[in-house]
Amino acid sequence: MRVVVDQDKCGGHGRCIAVAPDLFDLDDDGVSFPITEVIGTDQEAAAKEAVANCPQSAIRIE
Ligand code: F3S
Repeated sequence: MRVVVDQDKCGGHGRCIAVAPDLFDLDDDGVSFPITEVIGTDQEAAAKEAVANCPQSAIRIE
């Protein structure tokens, strides 16, 4: 399972980091990136919460 941030869509709202601080961080331009792209099943719930909370629909799970 992978978590992907579409950096063209990200508006730097930071909600992904608020709900899943172990999965996301902001780069120097204020754009989110996944700390670890490949995630385990124990991180699936947090990843799904980030997907649901991103106002730009910039996060997806593959
Ligand atoms: Fe960007 Fe969405 Fe997170 S806009 S900072 S990926 S909540």
